[in-house]
Amino acid sequence: MTTDDKKSKVKLRSAEWFGTQDKNGFMYRSWMKNQGIPDHEFQGKPIIGICNTWSELTPCNAHFRKLAEHVKKGILEAGGYPVEFPVFSNGESNLRPTAMLTRNLASMDVEESIRGNPIDAVVLLVGCDKTTPALLMGAASVDVPAIVVTGGPMLNGKLNGKNIGSGTAVWQLHEQVKAGEIKMHDFLAAEAGHSRSAGTCNTMGTASTMACMAESLGTSLPHNAAIPAVDARRYVLAHLSGMRIVDMVWEDLRLSKVLTKEAFENAIRVNAAIGGSTNAVIHLKAIAGRIGVDLELEDWTRIGRGTPTVVDLLPSGRFLMEEFYYAGGLPGVIRRLGEAGKLPNPGALTVNGKSLWDNCADAPIYDDEVIRKIDNPLIEDGGICILRGNLAPRGAVLKPSAATPELMKHRGRAVVFENFDDYKARIGDPDLDVDASCILVMKNCGPKGYPGMAEVGNMGLPPKILATGVKDMVRISDARMSGTAYGTVVLHVAPEARAGGPLAVVKEGDFIELDCAAGRLHLDVSDEELKARLDVWAAAQTVDPADATGYRHLYVQHVLQADEGCDFDFLRGCRGSAVPRHSH
Ligand code: FES
Repeated sequence: MTTDDKKSKVKLRSAEWFGTQDKNGFMYRSWMKNQGIPDHEFQGKPIIGICNTWSELTPCNAHFRKLAEHVKKGILEAGGYPVEFPVFSNGESNLRPTAMLTRNLASMDVEESIRGNPIDAVVLLVGCDKTTPALLMGAASVDVPAIVVTGGPMLNGKLNGKNIGSGTAVWQLHEQVKAGEIKMHDFLAAEAGHSRSAGTCNTMGTASTMACMAESLGTSLPHNAAIPAVDARRYVLAHLSGMRIVDMVWEDLRLSKVLTKEAFENAIRVNAAIGGSTNAVIHLKAIAGRIGVDLELEDWTRIGRGTPTVVDLLPSGRFLMEEFYYAGGLPGVIRRLGEAGKLPNPGALTVNGKSLWDNCADAPIYDDEVIRKIDNPLIEDGGICILRGNLAPRGAVLKPSAATPELMKHRGRAVVFENFDDYKARIGDPDLDVDASCILVMKNCGPKGYPGMAEVGNMGLPPKILATGVKDMVRISDARMSGTAYGTVVLHVAPEARAGGPLAVVKEGDFIELDCAAGRLHLDVSDEELKARLDVWAAAQTVDPADATGYRHLYVQHVLQADEGCDFDFLRGCRGSAVPRHSH
């Protein structure tokens, strides 16, 4: 079919605003013309929204104005008309109490901005952790043609001539300070070289993971995930994405044709191969829920487990995103999986109109140390481990590639912290009754308990344990963990303590069994004892006054548990792109 044939079959959504020669058409066009837009731009050109999460308070996305300019060049070249608009930008590094508190808020902003405006398709400019799922969730609920352009990772961090990785270096250096291995001035000296260019965290943290998820889902052009933010090829990709989105309008290539169950299965397999963040479990579930795909925790076991991690990046391995791109980037990883027969759905459609496998089958791989061969992996089984048991009836997760293998089957005495403040107050106490075989348990850091489910699950070890040279202990909580962090850390325990999950009634001295191979997380108390404790707990609950008003009230009332993606209950599903009625 020729392009003209395609055009004749598509009725532009924007024509509902600009396509009539009456009072309404006058009003919609006239106000837009105050920006100097000539009349011919309103005559049948696709109007492409550029959904921009630029903000100087989201440093990882602070270069997005320039990125948007390159997207615009591509849109204009392909015969579309670009309209850039801002949406809520939730930056990980500054936003308190946690950027996750506003992921759903940002997704609402995106959804309503697209639906309510004369937009035929949208380019999603994403970067910092939550911006990627937020924009994909919002766009999925409208289901217009959409393409993801990521801001790209920062250049390698540097300290004393050596590479240091975003976030991961902070955790490592901080523990070295606490263990007395380095001085505070060395720690502070790392600050300047840690974030030395525009872009997102350069480790395989949540931002890089979600960029890889967007690419493996098929929602971006190949190589979108890894090209460094300041590499000229990032701007070429932005330009090409701008060109491509115009054709997607004529092809009516909506998100629902790309975001299929098959696409999510590919992404889960890729997450294991890259050693991706546990946050992907929550975000993929939330995105899937918006587009009507049924994704379960067990899909992570079914698809992810048994998959070797071949990408040798921090925090699991040695290298950083810059080396990952130079080694071949995500297409190289997908080629590795496909050649080993480990890509579940090679034929899944991507935004360039080709299948995932068509895009990656011939991808060059330049460095077998960074993108290792399937038979020489970094981790034999890197798939995120899903745990269940009487301590996590609705599931919990652990990232094997970041864990200590010997601790992945462990029984230990619980050392219990009631919340993050309690943990901070007591972890440094020399009299804390703890040894290296104990399990650190922290409550009330889940979606409702620490509204937003902060990334505090990788509790630092007690200084007196670190001083003995021990680097890892089993830790369990209902919190999340930064994708840049590491350790034998059980996260996302559901239901969370604040929602009355059994985690709420773990007591000091209880014994807990963790068995990753068996997918088991068990509290060694009887069912009767557990029920009795939960009855006492329920009778003592009161409402936190801080949850009584404002956005936090909405959040706590409606947020779903981690196994359901922490979306709001009323936001699940696709509400489509039907044009709202006139307001004048
Ligand atoms: Fe923004 Fe890591 S803080 S990507």
